[in-house]
Amino acid sequence: MSTIELAGRKSLMLISGRAYPELADEIARYLGVTVTSTTAFEFANGETFIKPDESVRGSDAFVIQSFTAPINHWIMETLILVDALKRASAKRITVVAPFYPYARQDKKHRGREPISARLMADLFRTAGADRLMAIDLHTAQIQGFFDGPVDHLFAMPLLSDYVKERYRGQEFTVVSPDTGRVRMAEQWSDRFGGSPIAFVHKTRDPRVPNQVVANRVVGEVAGRTCLLVDDMIATGSTIVKASEVLFEAGAAEVIVTATHGELTPPATDRLKNSRITEVVVTNTLPIRPDQDFDKLTVLSIAPMIGRAIKEVFEDGSVTSLFDGRS
Ligand code: R5P
Repeated sequence: MSTIELAGRKSLMLISGRAYPELADEIARYLGVTVTSTTAFEFANGETFIKPDESVRGSDAFVIQSFTAPINHWIMETLILVDALKRASAKRITVVAPFYPYARQDKKHRGREPISARLMADLFRTAGADRLMAIDLHTAQIQGFFDGPVDHLFAMPLLSDYVKERYRGQEFTVVSPDTGRVRMAEQWSDRFGGSPIAFVHKTRDPRVPNQVVANRVVGEVAGRTCLLVDDMIATGSTIVKASEVLFEAGAAEVIVTATHGELTPPATDRLKNSRITEVVVTNTLPIRPDQDFDKLTVLSIAPMIGRAIKEVFEDGSVTSLFDGRS
C-alpha cells in the first residue's frame, strides 16, 4: 500500500461572525453541530481581532456572517476571520453571506463609478474563501464576480409556501416594483399556477440615493389582491410608493414579500403607516425590536441554509433543494 488513508476525517465546522450570531446558532441546531467559539475584540484604534478558539486544521469551514449595519465593520471582520482560518490550515472555506454586501453596486451606471460588488468578491477570495453561499443575489451575474463556486439559494419557496398557506384560495396579481424584477415576478406567477403579472415603472436619479419615483403600473390590478415581490426592502421607498400606485390604480389589497429586510430608517414607519396588509421577509438580516411592526412577518432562512451546507459538505446537490424550479 502506497498511501495512508484517514477514513472518516472530513469535519464540518461552523464559525460565526458577531453581526448576527443567532442565525448561526439556528443553522447549527438544524445541522446538529455547535458553532465553533471565537475570540474577538476591537483594539483601541478600531482594528478588529478575531480567531477560532480551537483547531480548524483540515476542516470544511463555513463562515456565517450577516451583513447588516455597520456593514463595513462586519465585512472587515469576515475577511480577518477567513484569513485566520486559511492560516490555521482549514481545508476548505465557504463564506456564507445570506445577504451579499454591496450587491446593488454591480455595474457602472455612469463614468467613474466603482463596481463594489465585484470588489467584495475579490476581497473574500483574496482573504482565502474557496466558495461563497448567498441568498437571492441582487443580480444573478454577481456569481461570476467570484472566482470559485457560488451556491446561489432562493427564498422564493419559503416565502411563497407561507403566502399560499396564509392566503389560501386567494387569487393574486404578482407585481414587480420595477422592471428589474419582472423575471422574478414571472417565477412567482409560475408558483401560483400562472397568476397575472404587472409591474411598476420606477425611476431613480442615480445621483440621489434612497429616493425613487413610482410612475405608473403596467398591467391589470383593479379590484385585485396584489402580491408585490422584491429582493430587498431598504428605506421602504420602492415598496411603499409602488403600493400607492397600485391603490391609485384600484388594487383591492397589497401584500409584500422580500427576501432581505434591511429596514433602514424610515422603512419601519413608512411600512407601518402604509395601506399594505402584510410585509413578509426572511431573517437573512437581523430584525431589531425597533425595526419590528405589527404587519411584519419574519420567516427563518436557517433551515434552508442548513440544508445547503449539508449538501455542500456531503458533495450532494444544492440545485436539488429547489426542485429544479429556480
Ligand atoms: C432595487 O433595485 C432593489 O431591488 C430594491 O427595490 C431597492 O433596493 C429597495 O430600496 P428602498 O427600500 O430604499 O427603496
